[in-house]
Amino acid sequence: MKELSLNILDIVQNSLTAGAAHIDIDLEETAETLRITVTDDGCGMNAETVRNVTDPFYTTRKTRAVGLGIPFFKLAAEQTGGRLELKSTPAAENADEHGTVISALFYKTSIDFTPLGDISSTLCTLIQGLDDNTDIKFRHSFPNGEVGLDTAEIRAVLGGVPLSTPEVLVLLKDDLAAQYAEIVSNDN
Ligand SMILES: Nc1ncnc2c1ncn2[C@@H]1O[C@H](COP(=O)(O)OP(=O)(O)OP(=O)(O)O)[C@@H](O)[C@H]1O
Ligand SMILES: [Mg+2]
Repeated sequence: MKELSLNILDIVQNSLTAGAAHIDIDLEETAETLRITVTDDGCGMNAETVRNVTDPFYTTRKTRAVGLGIPFFKLAAEQTGGRLELKSTPAAENADEHGTVISALFYKTSIDFTPLGDISSTLCTLIQGLDDNTDIKFRHSFPNGEVGLDTAEIRAVLGGVPLSTPEVLVLLKDDLAAQYAEIVSNDN
């Protein structure tokens, strides 16, 4: 994949399929590294799935022989000298606290580092497709500041106006752009 934000789209798609109500997308940058962590409270995975999930020839869905979301994400991290960590608690094991944490470390200094790309567009794509029962909390931190967005907070401000309203999506994108511009200006 050309952009890590597309890998993130894929990983968050898994959380949506798992029926998550809360999804945290956390990007943490230092001068040399980028850590991407997606946390959800979805159905989780049993031990066998966790064991096999990083193998491209494993998937629980029947329509295609291979699931590639996690293997691609893992490969992209490992190619930079980083790694992928996966922790999951299935609902069958713990009815109160279930879900998945997937975290990948990238070395930005590696020539094989894939740029993050247009994370704001990726987020807006995800927000556009959200149902009323799911919220996303996004945070992107840098040594000199952070960018954030929380759909639960935005919903509260919007009253009954749907998140998928085109005008709302434009506002969200503008707000993210302004937050990122602030980080760049902090740099100077
Ligand atoms: N957050 C999650 N919660 C619960 N199960 C998950 C989660 N992420 C992945 N899985 C399980 O792991 C399997 C593999 O995921 P992966 O994204 O690699 O492939 P896929 O979703 O099956 O196919 P693809 O992403 O290529 O469309 C999924 O089919 C699903 O069973
Ligand atoms: Mg997937």
